[in-house]
Amino acid sequence: MTSFEKEVSEGLLAFPKQLSSKFFYDKKGDALFQEIMGLQEYYLTRCETEIFELHKEFLIKAFDEEKQGFDLIELGAGDGKKTKILLRALLDTNYDFTYKPIDISQNALDGLEESLQKEFPKIVVSPEQGEYFEVLKSLKTSSRRKKVIMVLGSNIGNLLHPRAIEFLKGLRNVLHEQDALFIGFDQKKDPQTILDAYNDSQGVTEAFNKNILTRINDELDGDFDLDAFKHWEVYDPETGTAKSYLVSSYSQTVTINRLGLTIDFEAWESIHTEISQKYDDPIVAWLAEASGLEITASFADSRSYYKNYLFRKKE
Ligand code: AVI
Repeated sequence: MTSFEKEVSEGLLAFPKQLSSKFFYDKKGDALFQEIMGLQEYYLTRCETEIFELHKEFLIKAFDEEKQGFDLIELGAGDGKKTKILLRALLDTNYDFTYKPIDISQNALDGLEESLQKEFPKIVVSPEQGEYFEVLKSLKTSSRRKKVIMVLGSNIGNLLHPRAIEFLKGLRNVLHEQDALFIGFDQKKDPQTILDAYNDSQGVTEAFNKNILTRINDELDGDFDLDAFKHWEVYDPETGTAKSYLVSSYSQTVTINRLGLTIDFEAWESIHTEISQKYDDPIVAWLAEASGLEITASFADSRSYYKNYLFRKKE
């Protein structure tokens, strides 16, 4: 049984029903997410780009204060659009660095490597495909050179706090004393702005959320009727958690042949699909403390919608 089969089966038999957002991403899901990142309502990508533009000089100095040379490692590199701003600044100021994008998707890495070769032929790029922690473990032992590990796009927000702490602890364990972590955290703000970002007027986020049903239909021979489910977003300003759901508009039964399952839905029953956590400084400080990390700097966009924090290992 693949992990997709196992998790779909467990998630739809559970009460309340749930499916993990990690299954949004296949070729179509990747393309929909690219589209989301260009949407007016989805401010996150533009804010992080603005941070890179505004603070790049200070940032690259903070990455390598002693100019000793370092490896820039990016987890979940995707198309590397924002990173290219940093790469350009690092090249222009003659830093000694290499770039290692890490991604699960070989497809994404191939595209990135090709575009980097064209735009930045001088940069040493060593992509690595695989699960983050497998690749990171090998990095800890393979090189004593300084490392700066980046996790951008508020990807950490797709994890609830206990899992985010597990993730940060895992990163901490591969850091040496001189290494740094650079992570993007979407900030708490007007709840309406957050709701709009996850419920855009063109319905791209709806299609992205429903892509998980499409994948079940295509890959597991399911018969979900996509029009029978509503995309629904909620945001709790107290916890800072945005949650996405698919809500069944009426009572219905869905069959998933490859799993030998029939799943009953009550009218208005939900499937929880994604969390997108929002943060503020005290929450990030608490996460750092709980993970054995120390914040050394933070960088905001002009509206403080989004922040990137620099961490080092707390001894
Ligand atoms: C990848 N991740 C950080 C995005 C987010 O904001 O949670 C995924 C996304 N979901 C809906 N729109 C974008």
